This record gives sequence, C-alpha cells and structure tokens, in this order.
Amino acid sequence: MANPSVSEILIRQAPAKINLYLRVVGRRADGFHDLETVMAKLPDLTDTLRFEVLDSDRIELEIQPAYPRTLHVQTIPVTSENLVVRAALALQQATGCVSGARITLVKRIPAAAGLGGGSSDAATTLSALAQLWGLPIPQVELLRIAAELGSDVPFFLADTAWALCTGRGEILTPLQAAGRLSLVLARPQTGLSTPAVYRACTPEPHGPPVALLLKACEHRRPWDVAHTLHNSLQAPAEQLNSQVGWLRQVFEREKVVTHQMTGSGSAYFGVCHSMRQACCIAARLRGLGIAWVQVATTAA
Ligand code: C5P
Repeated sequence: MANPSVSEILIRQAPAKINLYLRVVGRRADGFHDLETVMAKLPDLTDTLRFEVLDSDRIELEIQPAYPRTLHVQTIPVTSENLVVRAALALQQATGCVSGARITLVKRIPAAAGLGGGSSDAATTLSALAQLWGLPIPQVELLRIAAELGSDVPFFLADTAWALCTGRGEILTPLQAAGRLSLVLARPQTGLSTPAVYRACTPEPHGPPVALLLKACEHRRPWDVAHTLHNSLQAPAEQLNSQVGWLRQVFEREKVVTHQMTGSGSAYFGVCHSMRQACCIAARLRGLGIAWVQVATTAA
C-alpha cells in the first residue's frame, strides 16, 4: 500500500490542565453539578496524537506510553469507551462523513488524575479530524459536540489558555492568564473516579468567591493566586483516597507558594517560587517513591 501523503497526516499536542479554583455550587436534576471553576492549560505537559486518514470509515486507535513511567497506559481502553474514539464517531455522525482514521495516542498525562488528559485528547481529535477530513463544520457545532462528550472538553477546544467555566463546566469565559506559574505535579499510585468524588462532595452555594482570582488574572498578579485557590472536591477525594491527604501533608512541609488537588484528583500540584524550586521539590518527591512527579508551567 502506498504511504499516505503529508496532507493526510496531522500531528497535534493535547495539553493537560489544572483547576486553580473549583467550587461545586449545587446538585442538578440531570445528575451533574453546577460549577464555578478556573482552569489553566499546561502547554509543556501534553499527550501527542497522530492522525492518518483511512480509505474505509473505520476508527482505529493505538495507545503508546511516552516513557515507561507513564502511569497505567495498558488499562486505558482503545474501544468506543475511549473519548478519542467517541469524538471521532460523534464527528462522523454529526456530519455524515464517511472517512475513517488511524489514531496513535502517545500518553504522558496520567489518567484518573484531574489533569484533563482524556478530555484534551477528545478536543484535539475533534479539531484535527475536522481539518483532516475537510469538514466545513462551524466552531459552535464543534463546541456542541465537545460538550456532549464531557464537561471539560469545550475548554480544550477553545482558543484560550485560561478560562472561567460555569454550568457543568462547559460554559466558558476566556480569561487573561495571571502569569506563568511554575508547578510541581504529583499523582499517587491510585487514581480517583470522577463520578464517585462528585457523589461524595458537599455543594458550597456560599463558598469562597472566585472574584479574587479573577482580579489576579485581570491585573496579571501571579502571586495573588496564593490566597485564591480552592477546590470543593478535595475533602471528598481525601476521604476516598488516603494518598491524596498524604500528598497534602507532603506539600505542607515544602515552602511552596500554595498547593491544592486538581479537579476530581488524584493529582496534586504546588505553585512554586521558581522553576528551579519546582525541580528541587520534584526530586525530593521522587525520592519519597511517589508514582508520578512532573514539573510544568501554566500558559502565560
Ligand atoms: O462530564 P464528564 O463526562 O466529564 O463527567 C463525568 C462524571 O462526573 C459525570 O457523569 C458526573 O457523575 C460527574 N460530574 C458532575 N458534575 C459536573 C461534571 C461531572 O457531577 N459538573
């Protein structure tokens, strides 16, 4: 078989995210929760996706670890349970497109971590295949498909690195970045199930306001995030997975600016004074035997 031409192949990076603020406002009749959350993309922590057009309408997915330490890659499904496959099928269905694709997903972002890896992979699949298949699909329609795939998926499709997300997470208000934050990230051996964490949470209709963080973004004051982090899902996550509480204690002993669990966990992050400090802390955390430790920055 002839090699595919360059125009039939696309390679894209799908970034992770952290939630700097996440307040569960209330439970909804549809089983979801209303949220107020500020998310920031991590452009230097990415999965890599390669897309190749197929003659048939088949969607084929292969997953590879980027390095041996990528957590639990072998447990990620390659069937229609995988958000990448679901994104491709949803795009075919919405447009009547009969092209197929062979997709190779190189994983660096750990799963079940609250880092948005699966959602980011799905958003990247939507935009890459729309381009590769030559579909004249408006962005608003792509955003609709994205929201059906998952609450976080529209954020990754949007052309903004920081956003305030409301509704169940799918309604975006783009934000200016507060600055480039130096982070150390850690994920314990075991992950967390997002539905289980939401089920165990107590909504906070009158929790700490997001306004201070929005001000830090507006005035580009990165160190103000020290006083503005919040995550309603951290307490239930600590109850469900004792390693999250242990990570909090580890970060309490480090001289970071501030620290918190991201999303529904189980990954945890510390905001550091510098990338140099982040690297030193990462080395100490690896010395403690923590399953996955990485330094990264938020987009500025
Ligand atoms: O939207 P997504 O598929 O990522 O959500 C996974 C699960 O997390 C949902 O089925 C629901 O149990 C929970 N969830 C929620 N409220 C949200 C987002 C997610 O209860 N705003």
